[in-house]
Amino acid sequence: MFVARTVAELRAARHEAPGPIGFVPTMGYLHQGHMSLVQAARIDCATVVASIFVNPTQFATGEDFERYPRNETNDLALLEANGADLVLLPGVEEVYTPGDTTRIRVDALTEVLEGARRPGHFIGVATVVAKLFHIVQPDRAYFGQKDAQQLVVIRRMTRDLLLPVEVVGCPTVREPDGLACSSRNVYLTPEQRQQAVALSQSLRAAEAAFADGVRDPHTLRRLVRERIEAQPLAAIDYISLADASTLWELNADIEASALLSLAVGFGNTHLLDNTTLVP
Ligand code: PAF
Repeated sequence: MFVARTVAELRAARHEAPGPIGFVPTMGYLHQGHMSLVQAARIDCATVVASIFVNPTQFATGEDFERYPRNETNDLALLEANGADLVLLPGVEEVYTPGDTTRIRVDALTEVLEGARRPGHFIGVATVVAKLFHIVQPDRAYFGQKDAQQLVVIRRMTRDLLLPVEVVGCPTVREPDGLACSSRNVYLTPEQRQQAVALSQSLRAAEAAFADGVRDPHTLRRLVRERIEAQPLAAIDYISLADASTLWELNADIEASALLSLAVGFGNTHLLDNTTLVP
């Protein structure tokens, strides 16, 4: 596995690499969710490229950029064990050259959910992903369904900018008790960790109700809300049931794919989870 710390090193190595090229962008502190993306890329592609870059522009002032967990040694060992060929590990000034002022903004889709909760977040995500796509020039790029809105935004950005990259969404990987894998789970206290399992449990309950024929979005949101409100340490940011492609909140009975998503705070840690309901 070759580790490139500059864009020039990555480009030179990529130039020699056989295609198709699969790409897994990450912010490091890797877990089984990331590894499932690397494994999916390994199956589909002749060369697997991963990046580790904690992207400053997707964090607002006061968010956890400075304390975002980092463990380069462990990350590189995991990537190698799972079959990555190239890893891009750039410094901030490699990605944002001094004086950099160009940003990519995806409208509409980013005004709701995480975009409303974290203004500017998706400008940072879209900008860095576009830059990484330009550096790596992958044929396919792999993202987790856990960050469902991010996946929708990246698909739209890729389409709108005519980037020749196939964006592949991969299923959420979960801990044995159902909690979605996330680098931020490490912040949870034991009590918070115990109560956080209510997120996935509430989604499973909504899926069961949906399978039983419940189509009313208000009923499904309420069912999720009640289960999470039963956890004293949980503070709900939002519970959304929206059209899966436009992310518009639904008020009438579900008739097409719907994204049931939630963000819940435990102290300063905000956890996301979601499921797609398909009639
Ligand atoms: O999902 C992430 O880890 C990040 O948002 C991404 C896509 C690597 C961009 O920094």
